[in-house]
Amino acid sequence: MTLAGTPPMGWNSWNTFGRNINESLIKEIADTLVESGLRDLGYVYLNLDDHWHGGRAEDGRPQPNFEKFPNGLKVLGDYIHERGLKFGIYSDAADNTCGGEFGSLGYEEIDAQTWAEWGVDYLKYDYCHAPLDRGTAIARYRKMGQALRATGRPIVYSVCEWGDRQPWLWAREVGANLWRTSGDIWDGWEDGPNHWQLGIDRIGFEIQRGLERYAGPGHWNDPDMLIVGMGGSGNVSHQNGCSYHEYRSHFSLWSLLAAPLLIGCDIRNMSADTREILTNAEVIALNQDSLGQQGYRVFHAGKVELFKKPLLFGELGVGVFNRRNEAQTLRVHWSDLGIQGAYQVRDLWAHTDMGVFDEGQALVAELEPHACAIYRLSPA
Ligand code: GLA
Repeated sequence: MTLAGTPPMGWNSWNTFGRNINESLIKEIADTLVESGLRDLGYVYLNLDDHWHGGRAEDGRPQPNFEKFPNGLKVLGDYIHERGLKFGIYSDAADNTCGGEFGSLGYEEIDAQTWAEWGVDYLKYDYCHAPLDRGTAIARYRKMGQALRATGRPIVYSVCEWGDRQPWLWAREVGANLWRTSGDIWDGWEDGPNHWQLGIDRIGFEIQRGLERYAGPGHWNDPDMLIVGMGGSGNVSHQNGCSYHEYRSHFSLWSLLAAPLLIGCDIRNMSADTREILTNAEVIALNQDSLGQQGYRVFHAGKVELFKKPLLFGELGVGVFNRRNEAQTLRVHWSDLGIQGAYQVRDLWAHTDMGVFDEGQALVAELEPHACAIYRLSPA
């Protein structure tokens, strides 16, 4: 079976918890993934981000911070696996991580080997404190890719150099299953005041454009983790967070873009709105369709955009997004989608069948500011 044959789904500690992670938190997250039903919807990776680290042992082996993880990460990995989940970890291709912990440069084999012994199933490999040129990045990412492969354990390999060296052109070849295409997301529709705080609108609509040809089963573009449900609290947040419609558009767009769906909110305290968004199995199904084709923009009228994601068996995911600050109506014609003939149409947020449409009709989407409509079209 192809590793990451569909976009990875799960949870990552960074967006909400930053450096404040520990064993009891991660166990509670594992339990919540199971009890909430999220695991059974496909969210199986439980990924520790930066700041699990202690120091290196005398023989060079990496060790966790034993104050945060008193029983070590093998025991934590077992706990995660016993619940039908998979275990992810984080490192950096330099002496230090972005948060100043120890990195893996020069320790690739011993780190990969140790992680495999802990039962690690996923590595996010960051690029802070590393030289800017592409050649060095390729060499360093290849080195870790080889070390992971040498463990014999299937470990999903996530490259995180923020798209600065066009990783879509080389990361697959060094063994990566996904690669970040942008800088860090923050909990806003618009960008934040600092250049490293990118909003949903810029990452989703601008930065991904044209990258669809590089994605497919086992190798995905990664527009960063989900901020759905953060509501202005957490490590990458601002006071207000996003509105319900903004989170819903974010989730819908990431699904159509065949992006990894890595939840970043505190799932122990999900609101009804957050739960509704993250557990929409019909939207998730677009993301996880095994054809593995990334959706793309086919039409736009100003900042109202129409997306299409081809699915298995001639089906189609279709999204209409209103990026404007005023309500908008868009009439979707078959010619805009490049299709002909009769299709059964289902509205994936209203969860209703809309009947059979063909080129003689139009789908009419009336959208609040920053809202979207998502449909599944099946040949009738
Ligand atoms: C970088 C990455 C983030 C996160 C932090 C951790 O900024 O892009 O996703 O992993 O490092 O320090």
